[in-house]
Amino acid sequence: MDTNKDIPTVPLNKFIKHSLEILKNPLPFHRQNFNDKGDTFRLKVGFNTEIFFSRDTALAQYVLQKNQKNYVKSKIQTVDLAKYVGEGLLTSEGEKWKKQRKMMQPAFHKRQLENLLSGMQDTIVSEFATIATNKSIDLFPIVNDLAFQTVVKSLFTKAAKAKDMERLQFITEANQRMLVRELRQPYLGWWFKISGTLDKYLNLSKEARTILKGIVEERKASGKRYGDLLDMLLETRYDDGKGMTEEQLIDEILIIFTAGHETTSNALTFSFQLLAKHPEWQDKIYEEWLNLGGDDADVMTRISTSKVCQQVLEESMRLYPPAYFIDRVNVEDDSFNDMHFEAGSNLLFSVYEMHRHPELWEQPNAFMPERFADGSRKFSSQYFPFGAGPRKCIGNNFAMFEMIIAVTELISKFKIYPEFDEIDITPLITLKPKNAFLRFRKR
Ligand code: HEM
Repeated sequence: MDTNKDIPTVPLNKFIKHSLEILKNPLPFHRQNFNDKGDTFRLKVGFNTEIFFSRDTALAQYVLQKNQKNYVKSKIQTVDLAKYVGEGLLTSEGEKWKKQRKMMQPAFHKRQLENLLSGMQDTIVSEFATIATNKSIDLFPIVNDLAFQTVVKSLFTKAAKAKDMERLQFITEANQRMLVRELRQPYLGWWFKISGTLDKYLNLSKEARTILKGIVEERKASGKRYGDLLDMLLETRYDDGKGMTEEQLIDEILIIFTAGHETTSNALTFSFQLLAKHPEWQDKIYEEWLNLGGDDADVMTRISTSKVCQQVLEESMRLYPPAYFIDRVNVEDDSFNDMHFEAGSNLLFSVYEMHRHPELWEQPNAFMPERFADGSRKFSSQYFPFGAGPRKCIGNNFAMFEMIIAVTELISKFKIYPEFDEIDITPLITLKPKNAFLRFRKR
């Protein structure tokens, strides 16, 4: 019996007809269907496969928060990504996830993160020192490197060899590119296996694990403490008093690299593009920075009091959420309002569409950071850049701290100008910027 009959359907032939444009950028296709069918529709993507797309914020809260026990992540994270980065916080489920989350949460508390701030700032300052002025440059590679180095330095304050880190960055990014290929071209799965392509990338993961094992063992043997994330992860304990196994620790480090670098570099790049388009907000950030004491202000004060900068970042992640969709599968049958979902249904929440829902946001496509003047909590039922519920991003404070330092640092030293007409996007696993060409002038 077709128990989902009340949810409008987009037929398979429509999906096939638009498949080429969906491969390039699925967002206009989603938008069209939301406009035609309403806030939740099901899309037939095979003869027996369908995905429920939703921009219904109440349903998202129900699935991610209220009834989260009945929902697991889809295989994209728990199988496809896990084969490269292992089974850790982002990729595990059930009791294993719960145990890891409880154990790792303290390492990401605001107070613990304070120890990492001056290292973050040094990394950001030296990265921006490479910016060339008065010519058009692509900001994304600079910011991407900044985000990777920030994670590296926060994990390993000392003793990380530059050559090893370059290799880890190369491997993390290469494996993410391979995962995108696998997800976008699932019909080539057999070819990736027999041609040895997949093995090539799995071997890269092994190489990354060997590098990390060396770093961890060296740290343990040194008997020294640096107060970085690695120390915290080595010292934290499960309820039974035991620490993580070395293999588990390596999984978690690989996951922090993966989850913590591309998302942040996308958010930062979009923010700078928006600032270039809206110079009045550069002026407001600069004024705030001056009022807070400029370069003399201590970094924690700067983070906790840079309200304008925070509003700009929040508005930027509303318009361009790096994690632009969140997916779940229900374990048992479930109903919400008039909708029924049989066990095993694939639900995909479009964060991008929820953040631009015309009934929820005034002028949804306009850049208006002032809407966040009272903080993002005001919109907690419709604003999900870091997800919601127990699986909400563990690195959200880390990311906000890093981004506030980066934006205030750059805007206090440079005026930025756009070298593009409209902001263009590449929706892959994360929502990536496409044309972040900017011109910089020293203040
Ligand atoms: C702007 C930057 C970031 C954005 C937009 C972002 C977004 C998200 C979202 C939406 C989720 C939830 C996914 C889901 O429910 O399926 C998530 C989970 C996660 N994020 Fe982030 N993230 C960011 C930065 C970071 C950073 C800097 C780190 C680490 C240093 C990090 C580590 C993680 C981890 C480990 C998880 C899995 C948590 C769990 O399942 O318990 N993220 N992130």
